[in-house]
Amino acid sequence: MRMSDIIDKKKYDTELSFEEIQYVIHGYVNGTIPDYQVSAWLMTVYFNGMSEEEAFYLTKAMIESGDQLDLSAISKAKVDKHSTGGVGDKVSLIIAPIIACFDLAMAKMSGRGLGLTGGTIDKLESIPNINVEQPVDTFIDTVKSVGFALIGQTGNLVPADKKLYALRDVTGTVDSIPLIASSIVSKKIAAGNDIILLDVKFGQGAFMKDAESAKELAASMIGIGGRFNKKFAALITDMNQPLGSMVGNAFEVYESIEILKGRGDSHLRQICVDTVAYLLRLSEQFAELDEAIEQINKVIDDGSAYNKFAEYVQAFGGNLDVFEDENWVFSCTSKLEIKALCDGYIHQIDAETIGRAAMIAGAGREKKEDSIDHHAGIQFIKQYGDEVQEGDVVGYLYTNKSIASELIADLQQAVHIKPSAPADHKHIYSYME
Ligand code: URA
Repeated sequence: MRMSDIIDKKKYDTELSFEEIQYVIHGYVNGTIPDYQVSAWLMTVYFNGMSEEEAFYLTKAMIESGDQLDLSAISKAKVDKHSTGGVGDKVSLIIAPIIACFDLAMAKMSGRGLGLTGGTIDKLESIPNINVEQPVDTFIDTVKSVGFALIGQTGNLVPADKKLYALRDVTGTVDSIPLIASSIVSKKIAAGNDIILLDVKFGQGAFMKDAESAKELAASMIGIGGRFNKKFAALITDMNQPLGSMVGNAFEVYESIEILKGRGDSHLRQICVDTVAYLLRLSEQFAELDEAIEQINKVIDDGSAYNKFAEYVQAFGGNLDVFEDENWVFSCTSKLEIKALCDGYIHQIDAETIGRAAMIAGAGREKKEDSIDHHAGIQFIKQYGDEVQEGDVVGYLYTNKSIASELIADLQQAVHIKPSAPADHKHIYSYME
């Protein structure tokens, strides 16, 4: 087989066989096929797409490039929720302990953030003394005893994805549905869970800019996942606004604790409750969403879900007490006001601008090597639908850096205000199985 023939074949939109796709992936991982040929091949895929068969073959070859996690020691059904990445997305932190209150287990590996969207591991590492880089045995034991565990990537899972993603990132080939679908599904399958709910986001803060392309991506992932005999489903969700009222690492843990303690942003609570309800129905714990919602609200309100979170944090050495102290949470040297530019109602808080500003303030990484300031971030005290007068403070930017006044001007522009009240905001746009 020759790589140049495979590039040519795909260039003329001819379907590739498993052996051909496996040849590309194995050759790239072991270094026998150079970057420039794989870049050309990625571009042919970008323009010509892939059939469902080819996307499945690509996923299979990617999985075979590394190890697969064996979670069979966990007897309960193992569920995962995967978000395609959002601004202020702390949903995993909130739903994992809720799920652990039911007859399910959540063994979740998460990543670090890059660019506009934060990573669950960075958020967790704002908890003093926590160690989320755990060996597989400890991970599995914690899931068995607590009901869930979130850890950083471990083992050599899907090395092909790490190498391919880095190449896609610099060759303009990230936003291709078959490449995204095979990248995500390969990691989900290799991580060993049985039931996976995908949260496919669309909007300004997301890879997919509209609901229709998010649906197309979701359908592709559900189709590929099904071929591995795993249960995949997807929520299509709106990422035009940040999730909840806080963006930043310690801030998002703080906001998650508020929800788990039955306080905080009711809209964020609703998103988390609905997400778990879909997962509980998908995993056949409840036949109807309403029944699931009732039980989920119960485990939040009686403190069981928070206790699970505290148990998990303690198992990995973390100290949650500091989150009771607002002076510790909001400890940055600068607190800059974000003001309403006119009278009216908030119609949108542009997630992309908020994500970028939080990153510049220190909450995220522009490059992989950048370090993170766990206490930097943005807090909104006004939300979608709230009425404001010109000059009202709608939020604050917290930072330990010196920030250019243009950044505050951008943040103020990102709060879209119109004269009349907007319609109710719908976060979950649709559900697909
Ligand atoms: N997230 C992934 O894991 N892979 C992609 O290709 C895009 C988003």
